Amino acid sequence: MNSPSIEAVNLSKRYGSFPALSNLNLKIEGSKCVGFLGPNGAGKTTTLKIFTDMIRASEGRALINGIEVHPNKKKALESAGALIESPEIYPSLTPREALSMVAELRGLPKGERRKTIEDAVAEVKMEEWLDKKVGKFSKGMKQRINIAAALLSDPEVVLLDEPTTGLDPRGMAEVRDIVKSLKKRNRLIFMSSHLLNEVQDICDEVAMIDHGKLLVYDTLSNVTTRFSKDSGNVIEIEFLRDIDYQSVNKNIASLANVNSAERIDSRRVRIKFSGGAPIQERLLSDIVTMKIGMISFHSPTSALEDTYLNLIKDTL
Ligand SMILES: Nc1ncnc2c1ncn2[C@@H]1O[C@H](COP(=O)(O)OP(=O)(O)OP(=O)(O)O)[C@@H](O)[C@H]1O
Ligand SMILES: [Mg+2]
Repeated sequence: MNSPSIEAVNLSKRYGSFPALSNLNLKIEGSKCVGFLGPNGAGKTTTLKIFTDMIRASEGRALINGIEVHPNKKKALESAGALIESPEIYPSLTPREALSMVAELRGLPKGERRKTIEDAVAEVKMEEWLDKKVGKFSKGMKQRINIAAALLSDPEVVLLDEPTTGLDPRGMAEVRDIVKSLKKRNRLIFMSSHLLNEVQDICDEVAMIDHGKLLVYDTLSNVTTRFSKDSGNVIEIEFLRDIDYQSVNKNIASLANVNSAERIDSRRVRIKFSGGAPIQERLLSDIVTMKIGMISFHSPTSALEDTYLNLIKDTL
């Protein structure tokens, strides 16, 4: 079996004269999960819509498993499933009924529909709810049914646009678990998200986009080591009461190995320093000794967040 792939070749999209996507070149190949990150308006949904032929590119090509989507929609999308702009499922339908309609619309062979639906619902761990009305479901459960709809043809390529947005923490966790489990079947998952911790948790690779341009595409570990080096180590410390920032800054910034101390809010400071764990230990004990009311500390930003902010800042 060939490994699944998606590829954008010089892909551009203009809305009037506004360039929503500019010359995107991106080839993703293999069974893995790739996070698609970028700020609001970066062009993520636009890209995913071009890959599913919901909109047409102004220039360039989008390919799924080597087949160009626009001129060969049916063939290209045979091996793809997508969830874009989560549709509302009619509350009085059961998952079986709702998915039967989707299966019919997609032209799945009648004799296979029952099994296909049951398999897809099992993949999102909703078997027990197959014949219960969707109206009673939590948002997370509804979203799992939406994902089941994307899985109806057991696709090799799964495209998800912010699958956890709008869900409560439990719903998010449920959907993340499902997305993680999708990786098992030789699938390529390409998922947009605003949540860096989510991408860090689920994905193997990350593509970042801003203003319609690709900033980077690489493995999670390469991206974080390549781009967050210069910021060194970071800790955030929290104070019992509002701090006199001037004096705190003066005290902390003058400690050895500290590169900067920035105010986050009235009770929190972010410290950047060079060196490893022994330096961090000394730094924290020095701050405690100052008796300036430090009550806690933690490593605030994930390496990915650091990278993201560095890259996005450069394009503002
Ligand atoms: N139908 C449209 N007509 C005009 N402009 C549009 C249209 N759809 C999107 N845009 C613009 O194109 C740009 C990219 O939008 P897109 O929805 O792809 O961003 P996104 O990365 O998905 O953002 P978000 O994180 O907010 O979902 C935005 O500036 C948006 O306003
Ligand atoms: Mg979007």
